[in-house]
Amino acid sequence: MSTNGRLKNVVAIVTGGGSGFGESICHTFADEGGKIVVADISVENGERVTKDLLAKGHEAVFCRVDVAKSAEMGAMVKAALARFGRIDVMVNNAGMSHPNQPMLNVTEEFFDRLYQVNVKSIYLSAVHCVPVFRKQGSGSFINIGSTASVRPRPGLSWYNGSKGAVTMITKSLAVELAPEKIRANQINPSIADTPLLTTFMGAADTPEARARFVASIPLGRLCRPTDVANAALFFADPASEFVTGVCMEVDGGRCV
Ligand SMILES: NC(=O)c1ccc[n+]([C@@H]2O[C@H](COP(=O)([O-])OP(=O)(O)OC[C@H]3O[C@@H](n4cnc5c(N)ncnc54)[C@H](O)[C@@H]3O)[C@@H](O)[C@H]2O)c1
Repeated sequence: MSTNGRLKNVVAIVTGGGSGFGESICHTFADEGGKIVVADISVENGERVTKDLLAKGHEAVFCRVDVAKSAEMGAMVKAALARFGRIDVMVNNAGMSHPNQPMLNVTEEFFDRLYQVNVKSIYLSAVHCVPVFRKQGSGSFINIGSTASVRPRPGLSWYNGSKGAVTMITKSLAVELAPEKIRANQINPSIADTPLLTTFMGAADTPEARARFVASIPLGRLCRPTDVANAALFFADPASEFVTGVCMEVDGGRCV
């Protein structure tokens, strides 16, 4: 745990904060003095992470949200303002995938939900956060994309497309909102050991299956949640105030 205070008094909402990358982002930000809204559809996971943060003496609050629902995203932003008085960083991390499979096996219903959770959520975060950021004269979006945004794996076609959309939205937010001192950046992680791992593999999580993925990563290991959290810390840190529109791979060289 660092005590540098790089995020002293910075208020951050982290969607999908109850697990995986989001959980690590919550801890890393809080360890640097950030005040955290742990936002998740899972009450159990979100409350667990919030409890852990409070136990470390951090300022944190849980908010149950489905990022695909406008009313719930609006209520989350209101709750953050009621608790902390401002919002500096909106981390759009919550996401899902279809299991690795031939593209035509994914149902229309699943496709719609995938795009609601992975893509519409970013639109909704803009709808509800941009007015707050405008009023404050500052604010920052950090969107979690994927190496799938850049370099698609077969069997994940619609997931790949959703993450490609996130990239263009990140860049669009960056150019359109820059005159108002609102930033948007993106992190593209490679495959990591979180609950999503077996979905991406589309097969049992065996040492052989892992070895196949690791073989495609030049630095020779899976991504860790702390890799993503440390990159997010850079974008959240006021020291990166001149950085916007960047979509950064955190992938051990996978996309080179
Ligand atoms: N794990 C990987 O290999 C990997 C690689 C690249 C990108 N990503 C991306 O990173 C992000 C986080 O993934 P993770 O691996 O930490 O996953 P995870 O499954 O560990 O965590 C995702 C969290 O999001 C929450 N969530 C899901 N749907 C939600 C919704 N509609 N509203 C609110 N919360 C919701 C879940 O409850 C869970 O707590 C996702 O956007 C994912 O696409 C993951």
